[in-house]
Amino acid sequence: MTDETTANLILGDMDYEMPTVVGTESEVGLDVRKLRANTGMVTYDPGYGNTGSCSSAITFIDGELGILRYRGYPIEQVAAAASFVEVCYLLVYGRLPSLGEYDDFRNALTRHTLLHEDMKKFFEGFPPNSHPMAILSSMVVALSTYYRDTTTEADINRNIIRLIAKVSTIAAFSYKKSVGQPFVYPRNDLSYTENFLYMMFSVPTEPYEVPPVVNSALNLLLILHADHEQNCSTSTVRMVGSSEANLFASISAGISALSGPLHGGANQKVIDMLRKIRDDGGNYQKYMDMAKDKESGFRLMGFGHRVYKNYDPRAMLLKKSADQALAELGVDDPLLDIARNLEEIALKDDYFVERKLYPNVDFYSGILYRAMGIPTNMFTVMFALGRLPGWIAHWREMRDDPEGKIHRPRQIYIGATERDFVPITER
Ligand code: ACO
Repeated sequence: MTDETTANLILGDMDYEMPTVVGTESEVGLDVRKLRANTGMVTYDPGYGNTGSCSSAITFIDGELGILRYRGYPIEQVAAAASFVEVCYLLVYGRLPSLGEYDDFRNALTRHTLLHEDMKKFFEGFPPNSHPMAILSSMVVALSTYYRDTTTEADINRNIIRLIAKVSTIAAFSYKKSVGQPFVYPRNDLSYTENFLYMMFSVPTEPYEVPPVVNSALNLLLILHADHEQNCSTSTVRMVGSSEANLFASISAGISALSGPLHGGANQKVIDMLRKIRDDGGNYQKYMDMAKDKESGFRLMGFGHRVYKNYDPRAMLLKKSADQALAELGVDDPLLDIARNLEEIALKDDYFVERKLYPNVDFYSGILYRAMGIPTNMFTVMFALGRLPGWIAHWREMRDDPEGKIHRPRQIYIGATERDFVPITER
């Protein structure tokens, strides 16, 4: 990854020569690792918008061109032909599985879906209106009390399988908890996605027959969410994992990071926003004006992205899939029309054009989830279910990186300079 090219930083009399690093897609990074030791200076980049925190071989994004690739494979090709389980394998192990490897992996996931019966007691303790994301992150860190930290490759691998398998059961159970229905146990004859939908929607009096269109919509949604390089939650997983915290603790931290409305929570906020516009008589212009007015504190949810300055390729695939799925399911959702109209207006509006604000993955995912019968408070949990293999792949890559070290950024201190402490009796 190193390059012969150097960059020079000139500041006053000082001329500091920095090496550069170049990735396989010709991305260039200034290597500032020795900057502080040699010059006493640090880089300043709040929000890390310009900071390469690691090298990674998992996902490539070109935000300007709207490109997304998992391990080199274009998202459009992966979404058209893969199963989510295959994508899990690809992301975590770095290559496509053979048929035999795929079967073994799928079987291993199927055999680990059950939760320890004692874990059900945790669910009893959560209040009935708990947000399922809070339950999910709590339950995932609780897994580390059942499956101890480990350092051997085989044991780590077993924990990875356990995590992918059990998160789907935990997610379905957290939904059942929120609606006060009995838990539905997993079935080994179903695929990963079918099994999740079965556990979500079955009741003891009526097992859920998974419609193929709903199953393929879920498969697509999970694949599209599976990884997105160094976003807020993935960086959190790497940050926590860099202290050698165990897999479950690191992923639980990622789930908490994802819960925020500026990240994974945005899909729920998109639906809230579309509902509000509908209830307000469909007055698009009013909301466009509010989004452009900084004083209003309102943003067009599902629009804009830190990396994409072009149409998010995932939003493109989801828009098409939402159209097809709704037609096939015979769902007529007025919110889809509002979303389409809003997008059309925004894409022509100077404010959005100048700032390169396009729909992101969350703009259409909520509409699709609604059509599938998934309630709004489960949207972010669905995102977490999809993002899990990405988080695991990054956790593993970070752990195996020979140059890896505990993450510990610097700061520019702007507080008081030294002053004498005044004892409380003299204040
Ligand atoms: N509506 C209105 N204005 C916006 C929006 C929006 N959704 N997004 C960005 N802007 C404006 C900002 O006000 C800013 O304007 P200015 O230059 O005049 O000050 C400019 O566009 C740049 O925005 P930043 O906030 O600097 O961009 P940043 O990269 O920090 O933020 C983010 C990206 C958080 C996604 C932002 O676009 C946003 O808040 N979007 C809405 C929430 C959302 O959809 N989040 C999901 C992201 S995708 C995901 O996590 C899977």
